[in-house]
Amino acid sequence: MNKELNNVAQMMVKPGKGILAADESNATITKRFNQINLECSKESRRNYREMLFRSSEAMENYISGVILYDETIRQKSETGEYLTDIIQKSNSLVGIKVDTGAKPLALDNSQTITEGLDGLRERLNEYYNLGARFAKWRGVIEISKDNPTSYAIKANAQALARYAALCQEANIVPIIEPEVLMDSQNSNHNIKECERITTWVLNTVFEELFNAKIELEGIVLKPNMIIPGKFCKERSSPNEIAERTLSCLKETVPHGVPGIAFLSGGQNDIEATEHLSIINTSSNNPWNITFSFGRALQHESIMTWGGKVEKITDAQKAFTHRAKMNSFASLGKWNVDLENND
Ligand code: 13P
Repeated sequence: MNKELNNVAQMMVKPGKGILAADESNATITKRFNQINLECSKESRRNYREMLFRSSEAMENYISGVILYDETIRQKSETGEYLTDIIQKSNSLVGIKVDTGAKPLALDNSQTITEGLDGLRERLNEYYNLGARFAKWRGVIEISKDNPTSYAIKANAQALARYAALCQEANIVPIIEPEVLMDSQNSNHNIKECERITTWVLNTVFEELFNAKIELEGIVLKPNMIIPGKFCKERSSPNEIAERTLSCLKETVPHGVPGIAFLSGGQNDIEATEHLSIINTSSNNPWNITFSFGRALQHESIMTWGGKVEKITDAQKAFTHRAKMNSFASLGKWNVDLENND
């Protein structure tokens, strides 16, 4: 076993801590800034992210690592400090998104394949020198009447495995993120369908990781929770979501994997926290289970900030509160009263 990779993976999922996904592409962060009527520029992206990374209470106590976008890993603060240095000073790890996005699958425009393998070996070496100790690659699976097909699942799983092998060769821990979407236009599937497809996807991913000789002790899995599609009328209780999520993971994820860090996927802040906490009330989980949220960690903060300098402190408080609530959830100790009494 590669001890260095295992140590980093263990740090990423250390009990009480989780990962901040701040790796939105420029197109995605533009959508977030549109909500607050803020022009998306290199500078506004830098100001926003610097505000998050300088939230020292959150960063030191609740955030084990931050996933960055290529622009951010090279960026300096207004005062000339690398943003990566700010992150590392709070004892948090630097991560980097290395896929170049989900593109239409050739001859099948209804599904996607994630791209970014060309030149990845060289890019990973460069990212390591820029401070990255873990990376992220997101495969996207959408459920609809005829999809996903086994071909699309396998193609995405193989890409994840090839990416993971290149990461481990470069001494970088790969976050393996096969996301079964809950919030696309077509997401009217029920919870059982999400469970069936996620089980299929995870089984395929671990088969491909095995074929690629991946050391499971040196990865972190980033799955979706088992949850009904956004437009499904049959809603499910938080307990059912937690039970089905755990049961799916126990069926598919080998115990050698050090940790599981969920994406939030379009759940609102409180839902994501509540589900994570219930999952962690089960005492015999074989892995550390935590968060690697984007929207569910940042939403309140971005809305509070609104692009205004005078709102930075309040926005940092909002981010710290959410990070703290998710820290409780990673220990199975969150309850709704904590939301108001923090
Ligand atoms: P969300 O938590 O907003 O789903 O983002 C997590 C992520 O990193 C998606 O790739």
